[in-house]
Amino acid sequence: SGPKPLAGKRVLVTSGPTHEPIDPVRYIANRSSGKQGHAIAAAAAAAGAQVTLISGPVTIPDPAGVDTVHVESARDMLAATEAALPADIAIFAAAVADWRIAGAAGQKMKKDGKGPPSLALVENPDILATIAAREIDRPSLVVGFAAETQNVVDYARAKLAKKGCDLIVANDVGGTGVMGGDANTVHLVSTDSVETWPTLPKSEVATRLVAHFADLLAHKG
Ligand code: C5P
Repeated sequence: SGPKPLAGKRVLVTSGPTHEPIDPVRYIANRSSGKQGHAIAAAAAAAGAQVTLISGPVTIPDPAGVDTVHVESARDMLAATEAALPADIAIFAAAVADWRIAGAAGQKMKKDGKGPPSLALVENPDILATIAAREIDRPSLVVGFAAETQNVVDYARAKLAKKGCDLIVANDVGGTGVMGGDANTVHLVSTDSVETWPTLPKSEVATRLVAHFADLLAHKG
């Protein structure tokens, strides 16, 4: 059991990649495993919260004690996230595809002898920015993630402002096997502070993040 600092609180977490269809059998995806987001959902449940996890396609199991909603695309993830509101804390750990195929084909695309098709892309909705901008039921604490390969803290500061969130958890994914791996090195970036944590297992990062979020929520009153 242990302490339950999030008893009575609602927590929403997005996790994993999104799949953006090209046609019924093909899609664009990314290397997110969902490990960090799922670990955060599990840690929030262990801290006593009522947790909704909105998960893109992953190969890891649904965490115990968490209400998990499975989605495929960014647009589905936005709809499921909006449907899960209100929440006290919203944590956006998913690696949402920035773009989707404009007008995905309804049938499998065939080789027609005229060479490869060109795929036009359109921008997906930014789920984090959309939820952070809500007027009526914006969660008290909105947390974004930033996976960068360079200038990690500078980019995180810029992202904080652009997305309108309260905190960015930034990690360096440059060649260290963070994506899909079991360890993570994170920087907590808010408007007035930066905190860098040592490299830790993702489960330990999750437990510490949840304790930190509970603290921040308590001090917001
Ligand atoms: O802009 P960038 O993708 O680097 O921002 C990362 C943060 O924004 C993550 O918290 C991610 O979950 C969130 N995001 C989102 N919807 C998008 C793109 C990113 O919620 N379409």
